[in-house]
Amino acid sequence: MMALKKDFLWGGAVAAHQIEGAWQEGGKGLSIADVMTAGSNGVDRRITDGVLDGENYPNHEAIDFYHHYNEDVALFKELGLKAFRTSIAWSRIFPKGDEEAPNEEGLKFYDDLFDELLNAGIQPVITLSHFEIPYHLAKEYGGFRNKKCIDFFVRYAKVVMNRYKDKVKYWMTFNEINNQADGQSELHAWTNSAIQFIDGENKEEVIYQAGLNELIASAKVIKLGHEINPEFQIGCMMAYVPLYPYSCNPDDMMASVKVMNRRFFYSDIHARGEIPAYILKEWETKGYKIDYSPEELTNLKEGTVDFIGFSYYMSGAVSTLKDVVEKFPVTEYPNAKLVVNPYIEASDWGWPIDAIGLRYTLNIIHQRYNLPMFIVENGFGAYDKVEEDGSIQDPYRVAYLSQHIKEMVTAVEEDGVDLLGYTPWGIIDIVSFGTGEMEKRYGFIYVDKDNLGNGTLKRSKKDSFYWYQEVIRKNGI
Ligand code: BG6
Repeated sequence: MMALKKDFLWGGAVAAHQIEGAWQEGGKGLSIADVMTAGSNGVDRRITDGVLDGENYPNHEAIDFYHHYNEDVALFKELGLKAFRTSIAWSRIFPKGDEEAPNEEGLKFYDDLFDELLNAGIQPVITLSHFEIPYHLAKEYGGFRNKKCIDFFVRYAKVVMNRYKDKVKYWMTFNEINNQADGQSELHAWTNSAIQFIDGENKEEVIYQAGLNELIASAKVIKLGHEINPEFQIGCMMAYVPLYPYSCNPDDMMASVKVMNRRFFYSDIHARGEIPAYILKEWETKGYKIDYSPEELTNLKEGTVDFIGFSYYMSGAVSTLKDVVEKFPVTEYPNAKLVVNPYIEASDWGWPIDAIGLRYTLNIIHQRYNLPMFIVENGFGAYDKVEEDGSIQDPYRVAYLSQHIKEMVTAVEEDGVDLLGYTPWGIIDIVSFGTGEMEKRYGFIYVDKDNLGNGTLKRSKKDSFYWYQEVIRKNGI
């Protein structure tokens, strides 16, 4: 039986905007995350026109990692992490995004952070764009609907890949690039592509164009990165939410294929370097005029990924059957209906919990691309309570993670998938991306701060900290 590799990258993951704070320090420019207000469980965050007085912007301070990283890296070392996934805040390096020269103070911050990690024996794993595109690119250029953003992204990536070529080996281009796949969500259009829709335009067409522009930018950066350092491993970052057919009715089976194709569009191009036939047909049928040149098609071919990085939190189900669709609360999706899967439970935020879905996903991706994979996010957002003695008992988190790790190990040992590592999400409590809450906690390390921003920012170890320490020490056995 094949066990996890000896150098398996056990780690933890975060993103710059959800952790760093210091939104105006070190020459940093405004990012698209800086104009997102706090929402709450079930209440969406709002995107404001610039930073407005009287609004609560939780990412401005986040957990102030910018000033606490020495202390936090010491805790990561104690935990035994081999890898730490974070992103570079693009607007620390190019504050507006379209400058010719980078901001040295921003570059220096990541030099110091990466040195601190490497000295602790922890590899940085870096996402280049994790929902923190410079705000100026949204306002001035309309985000990634504009092809100029391809060049700005390539310039930024060139600078950081050159600067950190001896410190960072694992890179990913665009975080959860397929979140925008439904072509409708205002939040995802903003966070993936810095796009705000204009009245009357076809949202789906706009998102296809932006997505393709990002895929071209990604491919150019992958080619460039390999020239900068042939040792670089550069991946994509997909949100894999398998959408099962609700039943074995052939119509449900086909509905599942159709909905999954919308999401696979992104990784199919990342991994195979060409626009898949099912998408070309869709564009033709719907009369979409997606702009791409022969040269850009060559770019796609020349910049395919070395590995598939992905997040896995949940699965879903899709149905076409009238009685099913009527029985359960239904979420609309173009050409399909997402229904509740009655075989699994959900978290307090309604996220379905399906550990076997992780094994299923590893198999599907392995069969589709035959590339190494890296699980760069997985985790359980929950309310935690600090007991009178200061302890934080979180057996629910341990239960979720241990079930998922077990399925992950089975996928390697029994199914033979090639897996580089596992970096559970929010290794330390951070601001939730979706709701802006602090109290949707994922961490093994507790941070004393509430949804309104009150708290000392003190860090404490949860019970899960000691559990994960053992998992790493025993290499998942
Ligand atoms: C992924 C993102 O969607 O899921 C992260 O890459 C995010 O940025 C994570 O934080 C969990 O989502 P949420 O909304 O619970 O923070």
